[in-house]
Amino acid sequence: MYGCSDAKARNEFARTRDGAAMAAIPATLAPGNTVKPCPLRAPLVVTVVGLPCRGKSLAAHKVARHLSWRGESAKVFTVNENATNETLSEISLFFKEGNNVAIIDGMHLTRASRQTVATFCCEAVFHHLLIEFTCNEKCLQENVADTVQFYRNLDQNIDWERRFRESNDHHAPQFEPCSALEGPLITVNNSEDSMYHSVTARGVRGAIQTDILGVLASPVIRQQTFYFSRHGESEYNVLGRIGGDADLSSRGMKYAERLARQLGGPGSAPDCPRPKVVSRNYKSNPKYISTNSIWTSELRRTIHTVQNIPGPRAAIKDLNEINAGICEGLTYEEIQERFPQEFAWRDQDKFKYRYPHGESYLDLLQRVDSVVQALLTNTDVLVVSHQAVLRCIMAYFKGVKPDDVPYINVPLHTLLIVRSYGYDFVVETVPLKVECVDTYRIQPKVKYRIPYRR
Ligand code: F6P
Repeated sequence: MYGCSDAKARNEFARTRDGAAMAAIPATLAPGNTVKPCPLRAPLVVTVVGLPCRGKSLAAHKVARHLSWRGESAKVFTVNENATNETLSEISLFFKEGNNVAIIDGMHLTRASRQTVATFCCEAVFHHLLIEFTCNEKCLQENVADTVQFYRNLDQNIDWERRFRESNDHHAPQFEPCSALEGPLITVNNSEDSMYHSVTARGVRGAIQTDILGVLASPVIRQQTFYFSRHGESEYNVLGRIGGDADLSSRGMKYAERLARQLGGPGSAPDCPRPKVVSRNYKSNPKYISTNSIWTSELRRTIHTVQNIPGPRAAIKDLNEINAGICEGLTYEEIQERFPQEFAWRDQDKFKYRYPHGESYLDLLQRVDSVVQALLTNTDVLVVSHQAVLRCIMAYFKGVKPDDVPYINVPLHTLLIVRSYGYDFVVETVPLKVECVDTYRIQPKVKYRIPYRR
């Protein structure tokens, strides 16, 4: 779209484009009219552009999930073809309620349809970003097959394949790709081979738009399965101590054997699910995905938990447990006794509270971002980590808001299987029935708040 204040570009656009009929320039954008500059933290409207089955919805929801996980307030507004006045009113209301990113998932094939949203943003002083999706023929075939499969599960009486083909043929002649004067713009060219997935950007600015660009830069991998588990019960867990690098308790060792039996180790059924290095769809460059199918932290209790599970492994520092700083190695009772104020502050705002010389959940979320992004370009990976770290990772897949992350229940001796389902993820909880302590500490009711000062 025209930048709000770029009158010269608007005139140029209106005069030149191939002699084609141009969308009328709205009065608010006419040369000479003054427009308000858009503050950096103004809300952002994202308009998705592209023909059917080009990967728009998967990407739109992936972006919304990522932004919400990182503490922004993002929502996908699904429209039939183009945003209508009703959509725009809903978005205004959404922003009035304090939210800040609206993603309009529709085709927006014509310049006029995109201009409607651009004008709305300009008048309301919102940022506007376009994301245009295209894909090669092979990728289109795969997208259609996947979408058909998805809808067939919902209704078998409709010839979905024919419906998608007809929709594509009907809309293709209307498509006016985003012009050089529309922007900020990200174009995503999807390919069935992730090595050829490409993204270009023009005019992108600010942290949120850059974040979106980063999310779109890696391809969406369909049909993903991940396995997550905390380490087996540790000697510190038995004593109620936090942090440290204690080894497994005898029950923790039993869990390591039980987990291996569940995931392809000794005693497991030949057809049981297991972590594996997947080469499907990555033939041209198998190095693109991780060659390690088992990811642990660098701490003994996770490394020993996977010792009987077959598969290449990597110990990753970013999967280490939250650093409790001066409280490492203490029990919660000892922390309350020695550092009563710290203890109270943590209960008041567990997400933002940072242990002196240690970390907060907010820090942790930042730390595991790279792990989550790496997971999303993989499948069939087993991650064995710790309570706080797995809370942060599961928050992504479950769509949990940051403030609730520190209270997600990730019990010991339980396997979590996460499977993608369309643009969603389904989490299956499999308790492996090896006795252990419960390390969950419920959120206490805070009677009065102590000002947080350091
Ligand atoms: O108690 C086990 C443990 O992994 C500790 O090492 C860690 O400090 C704690 O859980 C994190 O949980 P919370 O944030 O609830 O204290």
